[in-house]
Amino acid sequence: MQVSMTVNDVEVTEEIEGRLLLVHFLRDVLGLTGTHWGCDTSNCGTCVVWLDGEPVKSCTVLAAMAGGHEVRTVEGLAKNGKLDPVQEGFIQCHGLQCGFCTPGMLMTARALLDRNPDPTEAEIREAISGQICRCTGYATIVRSVRWASVHEAGTEEVTA
Ligand code: FES
Ligand code: FES
Repeated sequence: MQVSMTVNDVEVTEEIEGRLLLVHFLRDVLGLTGTHWGCDTSNCGTCVVWLDGEPVKSCTVLAAMAGGHEVRTVEGLAKNGKLDPVQEGFIQCHGLQCGFCTPGMLMTARALLDRNPDPTEAEIREAISGQICRCTGYATIVRSVRWASVHEAGTEEVTA
């Protein structure tokens, strides 16, 4: 079957099998390997992308279901050659170690800040509660999101 969608502001049309998952479409058909594939069972959250602006686990969505919709992946987070503040936050606050969970964390964090520009630690932890990080213990991830929050707001210190 043929499927068309917008991925990171680019129209794409591809011939696919109806059973193809969105995560595999992005990685294997479009070559957007920034979206990681961790479990295939909706547990790890490393596959999170946006579907019409909403974070979704792309291993739970058929590529065909994304037809006619807008998808954004971690490759589409930076704008005009400038990293998104959440990406900067993860750099500044060491929000990653191996980096496997990072693409999903970044997409969820950006979506959170778009809805709630000043989230508490508890709100950040709730937002990423569907995602697993085996390395960081989450503290630096929370701190990274807070860093992005305060820098976007133009305020000072990160307290999380
Ligand atoms: S690969 Fe999608 S939740 Fe783990
Ligand atoms: S940084 Fe390794 S899984 Fe999160």
